[in-house]
Amino acid sequence: MAKLTFHGQSTFTVDMDDGTRLVIDPFFDDNPVADIKRAEAGAVDYILCTHGHYDHFVDAIPLARETDATLVSTFEIVSFAETQGITKGHPLHIGGGYDFPFGRAKMTAALHGGQVHGDTTGQFTTVPGGFLLHLDGKRIYHAGDTALLMDMQLLRGKVDVAILPIGDNFTMGPEDAAEAVGFIDPEVVIPMHYNTWPVIEQDPERFRDLVGDRARVEVMNPGDVFAP
Ligand code: NI
Ligand code: MN
Repeated sequence: MAKLTFHGQSTFTVDMDDGTRLVIDPFFDDNPVADIKRAEAGAVDYILCTHGHYDHFVDAIPLARETDATLVSTFEIVSFAETQGITKGHPLHIGGGYDFPFGRAKMTAALHGGQVHGDTTGQFTTVPGGFLLHLDGKRIYHAGDTALLMDMQLLRGKVDVAILPIGDNFTMGPEDAAEAVGFIDPEVVIPMHYNTWPVIEQDPERFRDLVGDRARVEVMNPGDVFAP
């Protein structure tokens, strides 16, 4: 059973049954709440990036260099990484999925900004996304940064664990995220993208109350491990 470790903001490590390790939206060294530094991420096989913003992407290229992991993201982000010397990349795009050795990864729609951190040309600006992952028999949706979207209704019945931003200001706040839970109907919801900075301070217990009996809310602190 895949084990999820939360590292603060939107960063998760996934340890699969066969030893494969994925990192989603790596933000370690400058992340004020991260439990580990990038150098402690260990042997990483795949890096998945929902979008190119600093707090999701800043450690992706260095981590790919240091671990020889394969970068999985939008075509534009993988193309930008190539200009930075990263040769192992797998470009996807919204609505498209691929059966990787670790399982299926499909990119989902997100409504957010698309600038790519480090791209001074602007030519790699892309649409942001999320990931619907099939890992060790569980279906895990990492929403990335997004507003509440009607498109989330398309995920209904297709998700066991939904990982949703609740921080407000840059993404959905707790009310909209609770409405997203109603759209998706997952078994478990894990809140993310809050309490990293004062501007996105939220009480996850209030989110739990808003979700009510629509799903089980698993509040994770940086360093916590969850096996769905
Ligand atoms: Ni963002
Ligand atoms: Mn963000």
